[in-house]
Amino acid sequence: MLSALTSFRRFARLSLAEAEGRLRVLAGRPPRFCGAWPNRAAALAAVPKGKLPGYDHEDIAEISFQAMCRVMPWDYPVLFWLQRDWRTGLKVLDAGGHMGTKYIAFDRVLPVGQAEWTVLDLPGIVAAARARQARGALPAALRFVTTPAEAGAADVFLASGLLQYLDVPLSDLLSQLPAPPRRIILNKVATRDGPTVVTLEQIGAARVPYQIRNRETFEAELQTLGYTLMDSWEIPELSHTIGTHPRLGPSTSRGYVLERGD
Ligand SMILES: C[S@@+](CC[C@H](N)C(=O)[O-])C[C@H]1O[C@@H](n2cnc3c(N)ncnc32)[C@H](O)[C@@H]1O
Repeated sequence: MLSALTSFRRFARLSLAEAEGRLRVLAGRPPRFCGAWPNRAAALAAVPKGKLPGYDHEDIAEISFQAMCRVMPWDYPVLFWLQRDWRTGLKVLDAGGHMGTKYIAFDRVLPVGQAEWTVLDLPGIVAAARARQARGALPAALRFVTTPAEAGAADVFLASGLLQYLDVPLSDLLSQLPAPPRRIILNKVATRDGPTVVTLEQIGAARVPYQIRNRETFEAELQTLGYTLMDSWEIPELSHTIGTHPRLGPSTSRGYVLERGD
């Protein structure tokens, strides 16, 4: 007798990996990355009923918080460039900084307390961060804002793990800042060689659009910003395959450092 998986594969003409991914969805155990759409709007429209759409929910703020507060191997290029700019009073805008995870992680290796460190994040995450801070469970020096305009002028714009989730082009976000930062550090940018794909990442009860950008288009966008590319790297450990669409191939995670001339 054919197994359910074999029958399903034959019926749907799927590869083994695809069939497994899709059966997990049907069984209510979706893989971390599920589905593939050409843009965020289409991915959001596909969020199953009963699941929270997107990242902007106080309820999911604690998920992976402790894990994100560790220094990871792919943080070291970021630390290298931060250290080159380091001075007392350095203004860092940590966009997509969650509840200050990188400030907490980097405290082990950089005197972060000497900087003016502002986290820009979504209202749900910032509400959770402020509640934590009010009960003394986050450093009092961390400042949280929900709009680029509130952030004030920054020397360094850090976006670590933001770009996958960002709902506007990077250039739009930068143009909303009160002044252009001298340094831009981007880390964990998900890219691929084919067309941009948006999948849904499972984060607790939330299904969060996760954008894997076409590399060439993204790097062309970087060239329009008026900055010089100083450094870039790949992070093999953060390459992901969409469980339901393995034929799209693995993503490549990248970091970039840009500097604005005077
Ligand atoms: C995976 S976390 C990254 C945390 C940390 N920076 C790190 O590198 O580990 C992504 C963060 O981006 C935030 N985010 C998503 N869209 C955003 C937006 N439009 N503006 C600001 N933050 C956003 C999410 O709320 C979340 O806190």
